[in-house]
Amino acid sequence: MYTIIDGRKTAADIRKEIAEEVLKLRNEGKKVPHLAAILVGNDPSSVTYMANKVKDCEEVGFRSTLVKYKEDTPEAVLLEKIDSLNKDNDIDAFIVQLPLPDHISENRVIESIDPNKDADGFHPVNLGRMVIGLPGFVPATPFGIVELIKRYGIETSGKKCIVLGRSNIVGRPVSILLSQKGMDATVTVAHSRTKNLPEIIKESDIIIAALGSPGFVKAGMVKEGAVVIDVGTTRIAAPGTKSGFRLAGDVDFENVAPRCSYITPVPGGVGPMTRVSLLRNTLRAAKMKR
Ligand code: GUN
Repeated sequence: MYTIIDGRKTAADIRKEIAEEVLKLRNEGKKVPHLAAILVGNDPSSVTYMANKVKDCEEVGFRSTLVKYKEDTPEAVLLEKIDSLNKDNDIDAFIVQLPLPDHISENRVIESIDPNKDADGFHPVNLGRMVIGLPGFVPATPFGIVELIKRYGIETSGKKCIVLGRSNIVGRPVSILLSQKGMDATVTVAHSRTKNLPEIIKESDIIIAALGSPGFVKAGMVKEGAVVIDVGTTRIAAPGTKSGFRLAGDVDFENVAPRCSYITPVPGGVGPMTRVSLLRNTLRAAKMKR
């Protein structure tokens, strides 16, 4: 029998914990955390993410400010806005939704964010702090994955872990967190040039799939009793549904699940944890300022 890791419930538990902290701040007459989010353009996934982020803020009692720009907004305008948010004492933390339009340098944008307000944990200072094990802002999806593993009491020490995908947002940072002291996994990062991938996956106790390739991980690749964390969220057309699409994970859930000890579903696994991790980082930023 396998256990389905319930990201929705875990995230709801954490939101309740955050809401209690916010209430305490409010009762003490302190300012409640305030998150700002910048969206450039109309990428459908980004628009949905943003709406959800605002909703999450409301639920826990944070203030939130959404700043929207048109697709063709010059980079200089965005950088100016970031500079003003950096200086704005009322804003505890902010994010710039990725991806950005091609004419804007993501790296320049990320590096212009004050590391103390970097709720996404994407600034090189925060990534550097994470690499050497110092406290800082940890990117939301990796933070959420580690929290799920901890809250479900899943053993990582000495376990063989494969991370599929080496993105700056998910694959690379989660590989670093899992190999740190305290997590103590033996981590392999696989990518498009990796050879003998099915064999490496088959040897792994923990599989983190963050490729964006629907159904990539098949039952035959997975060791009996493995832990499978599916980070994939590809939109697939689904005529007849309200939204017109469904989210597809990187794992062939139906056939892989019976082989697992633990597995995350898509949707309802990692996604809700990413959202709640942003709230945790925002609360952290607000507390740090005091
Ligand atoms: N795009 C996809 N995931 C994320 C995220 O966690 N933060 C931001 N800013 N953009 C994203």
